[in-house]
Amino acid sequence: MGRLKGKSALITGAARGIGRAFAEAYLGEGARVAIADIDIARARQTAAELGEGAIAVALDVTSQDSIETCVAEVDAAFGGIDILVNNAALFDLAPLTEISRQSYDLLFSINVGGTLFMMQAVARVMIKRERGGKIINMASQAGRRGEALVAVYCATKAAVISLTQSAGLNLISHGINVNAIAPGVVDGEHWDGVDALFAKYENRPIGEKKKLVGEAVPFGRMGTAADLTGMAIFLASRESDYVVAQTYNVDGGNWMS
Ligand SMILES: NC(=O)c1ccc[n+]([C@@H]2O[C@H](COP(=O)([O-])OP(=O)(O)OC[C@H]3O[C@@H](n4cnc5c(N)ncnc54)[C@H](O)[C@@H]3O)[C@@H](O)[C@H]2O)c1
Repeated sequence: MGRLKGKSALITGAARGIGRAFAEAYLGEGARVAIADIDIARARQTAAELGEGAIAVALDVTSQDSIETCVAEVDAAFGGIDILVNNAALFDLAPLTEISRQSYDLLFSINVGGTLFMMQAVARVMIKRERGGKIINMASQAGRRGEALVAVYCATKAAVISLTQSAGLNLISHGINVNAIAPGVVDGEHWDGVDALFAKYENRPIGEKKKLVGEAVPFGRMGTAADLTGMAIFLASRESDYVVAQTYNVDGGNWMS
């Protein structure tokens, strides 16, 4: 309790899922949190449900104008941004022979471009205010190795790990720590969509892929958003001041590196 007292955070894609859980955890540690999402109606609902200290902000991470407006709005509302979580992302799945240029462009624009240009916009604000900061990027076990049907998403998450390394090395001289979290399989609306895509391409009943991936986790089950909040708080707090450019697996033992 109180580990983020007085801090302000901007979390992208926080209207639901893991981002929402991080927002709730940061509020619980005393931070104020901007719930930034392309789904502004749901972001508003989430902010209202989370209560005092939470605000909703419209953001489309594929638009430079939207990024700059959102960052300026949160900086003005909170008098600075101490923590950025680049959490917004999109998943898609297809055999290599069926990947569309449209899906490739959209995934790279959200998952990679969104992460890069949000880091840039927020780092500028953090540097100007001269009080350092914490940036946390959401990678994935998908960024650790390829998967037969998941080429594009895996490549975007490998890029997030790489960007975390370069940005981490570049920004630490300003007292800004950049690190990433690589979750494994986390139950929620996101994985319901993933399961439906696997059902289509692997000819399975709905729910089967989810059951199989859960059983394959060494811990014995799929993760929950709550399983990730401890790492998200650590990387946002002073306890991680000497941690630079790292990606942490929080995946029940799925990947070791
Ligand atoms: N759920 C998992 O199993 C899992 C595993 C590994 C990594 N991750 C990563 O964790 C993060 C959160 O995952 P989740 O399961 O909560 O996903 P989710 O799909 O439930 O939530 C993503 C959020 O991002 C928002 N969003 C989408 N496009 C946007 C855009 N252009 N601009 C702003 N917001 C946008 C959506 O509206 C949504 O609220 C993602 O980066 C994801 O890749 C998830």
